[in-house]
Amino acid sequence: MPKTYTLGVLAGDGTGPEVVAEGLKVLQAVAERAGIRYDLIHYRFGGEHYLKTGEIIDNDAIEEMRALDAVLLGAIGHPDVKPGILEKGILLNLRFSLDLYINLRPVKLYPGVDTPLKNKGPEEIDFDVIRENTEGLYAGAGGFLKKGTADEIAVQESINTRKGVERCLRYAFEHCRQRNQRKKLTLCGKTNVLTYAFDLWERAFHEVGEEYPDIEKDYAHVDATCMWMVKNPEWFDVIVTDNMFGDIITDIGAMIQGGMGIAAGGNINPQGTGIFEPIGGSAPKYTGKNCINPLAAIMAVQMMLCHLGESQAAELVEKAVMKVIQNDLKSMEANKMGFGTSQVGDLAADAIRNA
Ligand code: IPM
Ligand code: MN
Repeated sequence: MPKTYTLGVLAGDGTGPEVVAEGLKVLQAVAERAGIRYDLIHYRFGGEHYLKTGEIIDNDAIEEMRALDAVLLGAIGHPDVKPGILEKGILLNLRFSLDLYINLRPVKLYPGVDTPLKNKGPEEIDFDVIRENTEGLYAGAGGFLKKGTADEIAVQESINTRKGVERCLRYAFEHCRQRNQRKKLTLCGKTNVLTYAFDLWERAFHEVGEEYPDIEKDYAHVDATCMWMVKNPEWFDVIVTDNMFGDIITDIGAMIQGGMGIAAGGNINPQGTGIFEPIGGSAPKYTGKNCINPLAAIMAVQMMLCHLGESQAAELVEKAVMKVIQNDLKSMEANKMGFGTSQVGDLAADAIRNA
């Protein structure tokens, strides 16, 4: 008997439910094709739910999610909820509680997708960013002194544990080894200024790196990394970095690979579950208009299949997405695709059925 996966679905707010519906449509098509069985558990958390009930997320749900094979997330964020509440209460809470210590963001330009980079194409733009996902400035260490007075002080500290850094680096080296034949890992840091945090990162990088003699080790400061991502993206194979720098550089990554219509990411515990998402956010102005690009959510499903070890199914999804981009879509942008959101999902699902 093949395994039956139990998958969570957290569609969330705004355009989240629309794009997740297309992701699930494609999942169904590929599951039929590849003989994959799965059950879905739907969660209703998000801004809408919070405004209605006052509940952000509940611990029973988090405990249930811990045992799931994977979760597909749409978007969390609501214009009527103060910034920080849902981000910290749902997204960061899940990353920390489920110890999803890897944030994996492929930056891959598919043939037929426009990039803002002049004279760069799919040959040049194809790398993965591995962002540490549970520590650094995101750990929430620090506080206020004399808040609201003229003498107030705000301290926000970056937490970098040897264990946390090492497990992230080890994952990055392993990922780099099996990704392709380039085998080059770039540590992105700021060793010239953050002389404690990135001293630890750099030492750990070279110590762990001794176990990976087949992998070329490279280093770039974060500001230079931003520059090279725009000027010479072909220099990168895998980039590993801390939480804050990873957050920033992956937005550049999303833009050079064609924008939020296609960019997906995974929050992963390599020994456990993972949450996979289109990284574009809830896009309130497009909500309910059937105009947003669901390919990012479909690529999140592709990443989820990789995490489950269903590499053949993942490949079918990626090929279908490439086919839809090349044969059908006029643009990656909302309203400009030449098709509606659900039609794009149909095209991708059909491409899988006809593959
Ligand atoms: C991301 C997002 C989140 C982050 C926000 C929404 C908390 O920007 O996943 O990159 O900063 O990590
Ligand atoms: Mn971000």
